[in-house]
Amino acid sequence: MKLNCNDVHIYRIIISEHTGSIPQFKNILSGDEIKKADRFKFTKDFQSYTISRSFLRNILSQYINLNPAEIKFSYTETGKPFIENSKIHFNLSHSGDRCIIAVSLTAGTGVDIEKVRDSEDLIIIAERYFSETEIIYLKNFQEKEVTNNFFRIWTLKEAFIKAIGEGLSFRLKDFSVTDRTGNIPVLSFNNTSSHSEKNWSLQILESESDYVSSFAINSDNVNIIYKKYPAAIN
Ligand SMILES: CC(C)(COP(=O)(O)OP(=O)(O)OC[C@H]1O[C@@H](n2cnc3c(N)ncnc32)[C@H](O)[C@@H]1OP(=O)(O)O)[C@@H](O)C(=O)NCCC(=O)NCCS
Repeated sequence: MKLNCNDVHIYRIIISEHTGSIPQFKNILSGDEIKKADRFKFTKDFQSYTISRSFLRNILSQYINLNPAEIKFSYTETGKPFIENSKIHFNLSHSGDRCIIAVSLTAGTGVDIEKVRDSEDLIIIAERYFSETEIIYLKNFQEKEVTNNFFRIWTLKEAFIKAIGEGLSFRLKDFSVTDRTGNIPVLSFNNTSSHSEKNWSLQILESESDYVSSFAINSDNVNIIYKKYPAAIN
């Protein structure tokens, strides 16, 4: 599969459409992946992990000269999977009945999807995890618009921390993905942060109404292309 320098290929998968293929999918997973899958307590988590991983292997095999089962994942200290000595970078996210996979030539690539869940506690959660700027942004909205904007901020923040790969060790209050006047996404860091917003692109992706997904990449020039996954996976 051709992937140009600034291209990011985005694949979107509906988990429940593929549960019947799980026995075949399991054949391409590694021993460690099968062990991890079998440890999930809830069937929906088992299905989501197994189907997402199988799609990840199948999709990546289009870009590298290996069969899906031959791909060997390495992991950073914080658990971000990558392929050693490969130009191909990727990130995956799953939530509810959906999985999203981003493939690029840039090491700092992150993606996040969340099923939108209404809750009376969103402002309380925001006060715990979001920056001051983001809380002010969110409080500008009428009640019914808070939920969608909460998940826009959440997925942008997650996509960013997944792009840098630090996971939960990165302080979520130390950076903002909005400004106070209603612009989103706008990346900024507080004064104490050693990071710079230069060379980052953040984007809210196209999603169905009950999901929100976002993307972050360590590049100032990005060309997002929504791709269909290989027919052979069905
Ligand atoms: C693991 C984490 C990176 C993402 O978790 P998540 O949002 O629950 O799950 P997602 O489905 O989006 O992502 C999981 C996938 O990301 C990848 N991943 C794992 N660790 C990663 C890391 N450190 N960096 C980037 N990607 C990572 C894996 O492919 C994983 O898929 P797998 O479980 O099939 O192996 C971590 O950041 C986390 O737990 N975040 C929650 C933080 C939070 O409380 N945020 C508050 C609001 S902003």
